[in-house]
Amino acid sequence: MENITNYIQQNKDRFINELIELLKIPSVSADSAYSQDVIDTSEAVKRSLEKAGCDKVEICETDGYPIVYAEKIIDPNLPTVLVYGHYDVQPPDPMELWTSPPFEPVIKKTAIHPEGAIFARGACDDKGQMYMHIKAFEYMIQSKTLPCNVKFMIEGEEEVGSVNLKSFVENNAAKLKNDVILISDTGMISNQQPSITTGLRGLSYVEVEVTGPNRDLHSGLYGGAVANPINILSKMIASLHDENNRITIPGFYDKVEELSLKERAEMAKAPFDIEEYKKALDLNEVYGEEGYVTNERNAIRPTLDVNGIWGGYTGQGAKTVIPSKAFAKISMRLVPNQDWEEITQLFTTHFTAIAPAAVTVKVTPHHGGQGYVTPINSIGYQAANKAYTETFGIPAIPVRSGGSIPIVSLFEKELKSKTILMGFGLDSDAIHSPNEHFGIFNYLKGIETIPLFYKYFVELSK
Ligand code: BES
Ligand code: MN
Ligand code: MN
Repeated sequence: MENITNYIQQNKDRFINELIELLKIPSVSADSAYSQDVIDTSEAVKRSLEKAGCDKVEICETDGYPIVYAEKIIDPNLPTVLVYGHYDVQPPDPMELWTSPPFEPVIKKTAIHPEGAIFARGACDDKGQMYMHIKAFEYMIQSKTLPCNVKFMIEGEEEVGSVNLKSFVENNAAKLKNDVILISDTGMISNQQPSITTGLRGLSYVEVEVTGPNRDLHSGLYGGAVANPINILSKMIASLHDENNRITIPGFYDKVEELSLKERAEMAKAPFDIEEYKKALDLNEVYGEEGYVTNERNAIRPTLDVNGIWGGYTGQGAKTVIPSKAFAKISMRLVPNQDWEEITQLFTTHFTAIAPAAVTVKVTPHHGGQGYVTPINSIGYQAANKAYTETFGIPAIPVRSGGSIPIVSLFEKELKSKTILMGFGLDSDAIHSPNEHFGIFNYLKGIETIPLFYKYFVELSK
């Protein structure tokens, strides 16, 4: 049996075509119009796990979309790796900004991906990265090199908060028992510099509704005499940050983990070019909390951002109206030790308190989750680092990410195991955005690196 690089060379067109077929199914979990497609995708994932060589493959029904569970147990005395990923994707809108349709994958070359990248919703987040694990597993089965037991748990509700996965994990701790959890659903610094994600931020996501008069009013007849809920909401939102861009909610920073200057100096060693960063986003200047640099602001500091705001008339032309209601969706990214439920409560109390008597305010919490940090001296981290060192020729750098995968902290709590985040995406891959893509280099490098993680994890566990 050939080695992994030969195997990839011989099978790469098939690997790419299989992923393209998976990307054609629009598994948008947030929009019920796609519900049959989400279910169809779970079936496709099930078939691919069967074909790759799992013994037991199940569709586990939940109150929402199914969880695909599979395993290959070769010897109960050997370690077990649990692979987690998600087959659902974000909504594709705004459609008009895609250069090719989101569910008709095409390969295009870019400056960062000279060997081509697959453009499609979910290419990087997370179908492409999840599928690398199935192909790496296929290789280990074919070459008879699988060194331990494997369990797969691929869910269809990550992009909407993993609500049903939570109870599935709580109720199936024995079935999911493992020695390490492996996830590819994050990024790395660049194709020349691998990194391992050692931290994820937590999240509290809320929706607010501000009501003024009981109906829309003529803005001439009533303007100036009643509260305009859009004006009020804007003012309230603006007051949530002070002149140093710190969040003004009382108690918000109380539990925030403060990193030592030594740890911050360590973080600053990761290669990063602020000029390139600004250029890539067409920004004249970056913006954020006083006293912290960009890579701290987006990783070790908590944030509060409006994700959407609406109300009143937004159609063509002008309509003179004072709306009855205004709305906003607000996310808070949290750092270690901040509890998302407590933060949601602090937000609700504060936001209600700052509302003038002329309006009423309703706060509706959506989903949330705790942050995560993992040490770099674990066997799992060391195994991942050895794997990257071998396939990239240089060691990986530990990096805390600003994104969230809330289920990771629950895994630690319920399954008592550490998660290793071996991400192969790039920040420029436009996840959650039009023209999402995943480099062919990254896809194949992932397939090449993953079997080495298994090998070194088992070796180091002895
Ligand atoms: N894969 C992302 C999270 C991510 C991406 C972490 C890149 C680190 C680097 C995941 O699918 C995601 O989008 N998570 C959501 C949270 C979820 C509760 C909707 C997020 O971070 O907004
Ligand atoms: Mn993801
Ligand atoms: Mn996502």
